[in-house]
Amino acid sequence: MENEILDNIQSPIIAPSILSADFCNLQADIDMVNQSEAEWFHLDIMDGEFVPNISFGMPVVKAIRSRAEKPLDVHLMIVRPERYITRFAEAGADILTVHYEASTHLHRTLHQIKSEGMLAGVALNPHTPIMLLEDIIEDADLVLVMSVNPGFGGQKFIERSIDKIEKLREMIDKRGCETLIEVDGGVNLETAPRLVAAGVDILVAGNSVFGAQNPTEMILNLKNAR
Ligand code: DX5
Ligand code: ZN
Repeated sequence: MENEILDNIQSPIIAPSILSADFCNLQADIDMVNQSEAEWFHLDIMDGEFVPNISFGMPVVKAIRSRAEKPLDVHLMIVRPERYITRFAEAGADILTVHYEASTHLHRTLHQIKSEGMLAGVALNPHTPIMLLEDIIEDADLVLVMSVNPGFGGQKFIERSIDKIEKLREMIDKRGCETLIEVDGGVNLETAPRLVAAGVDILVAGNSVFGAQNPTEMILNLKNAR
């Protein structure tokens, strides 16, 4: 792994999910993240087919890129994500994650993402077992474990995710690879310490950050969650 995003990673990385930001005043929320202890911006792209919701596309990613001073972690909840790899690279994505369930040729897709200079991630829906990653784990820079059913912010954390993360941690450590573990959905001050203990490297947080009285302080508290 030679990408500079991976230099000096201090877990847990906090990636606020822009899905829960104020879309009438994105600039203020982007500036808040810029000035906070958060390391990445998490952007959720939904196509109304892979998930029952539609979010935003390239023009919004480009606009966020022009203002954001930190890496863009783009989570594609779309069918056949390989169609858009180059477009998201051009829009300014630094990390591109595709769903295991949406990618027929995942190995090829991950390597296409890397060849465009981005880090490549694979996301798992709550029902998808960790063991399915056995033959692809070394090719992924990160694995995103969905701890809610993808499509919406503000949902309840699925407890089973802790067990999945422990299993994934064990698989990665056994194999001696450097794949990072990201968790997305229902991350808050109650779940974050347990997720970190289970071996998570990156915490995505939408509602808990943008719904907080003081989002900057919430980011710091999530970062210090033990
Ligand atoms: C859900 C998205 C998440 C979402 C998380 O499909 O992938 O990134 O924004 O929202 P919270 O943190 O509110 O559960
Ligand atoms: Zn997401």
